[in-house]
Amino acid sequence: MKVILLLACVFTSCKNKVEESKAENITALENKTDEEDMYRPNFHFTPNKGWMNDPNGMFFYNGYYHLYFQHYPYGNKWGPMHWGHATSTDMITWKEQPIALYPDELGYIFSGSAVVDLENTTGFSTDGKIPVVAMFTYHDMEAEKAGKIIDETQAIAYSLDEGITYTKFEGNPVVENPNIPDFRDPKVNWDADRKQWTMVLAAGQEIMFYGSKDLKEWNLLSKFGEGVGNHDGVWECPDFFPLPVKGTEDTKWVLLVSINPGGPNSGSATQYFIGDFDGKTFQIDESFQKEQAKEHTFWVDHGRDNYAGVTWSNVTTAEGGKLFIGWMSNWLYANDVPTEKWRSATTIARELGLIKDDNTYRLVSSPVKELNDYRGKKVVDKNISIAGETVLTTTEIISLSKTEINFILSDVANGKYTFTLSNSQGDKLKFGYDGTLNKFFVDRKEAGRINFSEKFSDKMATAIRTSDATELTGKIILDKTSIEIFYDQGQTVMTEIFFLNAPFNALSIKSDLESFTLNTIEINQLNFN
Ligand code: FRU
Repeated sequence: MKVILLLACVFTSCKNKVEESKAENITALENKTDEEDMYRPNFHFTPNKGWMNDPNGMFFYNGYYHLYFQHYPYGNKWGPMHWGHATSTDMITWKEQPIALYPDELGYIFSGSAVVDLENTTGFSTDGKIPVVAMFTYHDMEAEKAGKIIDETQAIAYSLDEGITYTKFEGNPVVENPNIPDFRDPKVNWDADRKQWTMVLAAGQEIMFYGSKDLKEWNLLSKFGEGVGNHDGVWECPDFFPLPVKGTEDTKWVLLVSINPGGPNSGSATQYFIGDFDGKTFQIDESFQKEQAKEHTFWVDHGRDNYAGVTWSNVTTAEGGKLFIGWMSNWLYANDVPTEKWRSATTIARELGLIKDDNTYRLVSSPVKELNDYRGKKVVDKNISIAGETVLTTTEIISLSKTEINFILSDVANGKYTFTLSNSQGDKLKFGYDGTLNKFFVDRKEAGRINFSEKFSDKMATAIRTSDATELTGKIILDKTSIEIFYDQGQTVMTEIFFLNAPFNALSIKSDLESFTLNTIEINQLNFN
């Protein structure tokens, strides 16, 4: 059946037809209350069992992308932190590996990074093996309980089998605590120009920059953050890297800083800064600073569920972009979401790039190209004139839980456009753009189970549009429990999770205008078992 048949009918009549014909299927699905069926994502990474938060130590080597993660393997709430581990050849399909780092007498293993020490600057190499060096925070619970500020220090561990097993360095910690609370999450990068390791570290509400020649001895280079950006919460999980500015010969440095609370739609989120680096000091770009004075904060993602995201070391895209993954949850409710066997997933892996518009530089994100290799069945339609709420597709035609949707709306200046994903249980996830307010929105108030936390759905998530183009493009990545929306080629991103009573079986669109043209809608089934 061609999707145009469905596109032609109005929402209610289509809905009835779809519901009749799908009733059998849906009843079968609804009867499977098993959370694996309902909530285990089709293609976003989750640990097989136990708690997960931040992605850690991501590096690429020898054809494999490594992803470590904050993990408590013996319970489904945050607990004594380990580094769980998973590997992938494409950042989409992951294989969980044995736990890489266990807590010890120096403390829990908090967030950090890993680098491939190609030139053996550490001297950890034996038999010509290339060391992979992880740098992480020790969180000393005894010290915390005793009320000591110095409960966090930085340490390293090395692997001579490409990241599977690690030996902790006997000289740990390599960075003592200078009497600063919340002193954590080291992210190390190789600065090729200066031939040195640069580490950024969150320290209260500042970022401290350190340099090292051997990953063992570290010198404080500078500090950043006083009086700039958002300070409504603790700064955590920084990342720092150069990015080419698309279409120019320029390169700028990007600093990512996660903050909790203080996010644009409450709770946890990640802000960014753009500027220059001379090997010691990070200087915010002047145009960026001016825009920041108007927009206040630049966010990597405006949804409520992308936190603590950082980039892979030892790899860039062909265009020099960085590869990023985030934790798809929020400290407001992460411990309460309705799964028992595991908690949390990662975002889809994303490419980060930089663009320069009239006013300043902006970070843009898009799902990694590797996701395209999973495209299967496709439905496309163009130049559809829409009046009233109209069903765009149903699960009779294409799945709505492993799906990529691309759309173009031609002239969005004066209307409010609402997409709705729905099912026979009355669950509804609404999202779209209000041209009169210049705002994107995601509303999950009716999207299934929300009562596990009063913070989960107390309001709609919104984001101001930064592009002034009349045409609006969007890319949507849908899984069983998440939606990731990339507007205007990734200038504004919104990532949100949800927990349905039954799978979505229809996607519709409506507007408050009498009629409008949907220029293009392309829906790709993603093939995952
Ligand atoms: C961020 C964070 C980090 C810390 C880790 C502990 O989500 O609070 O700052 O290292 O989680 O699990």
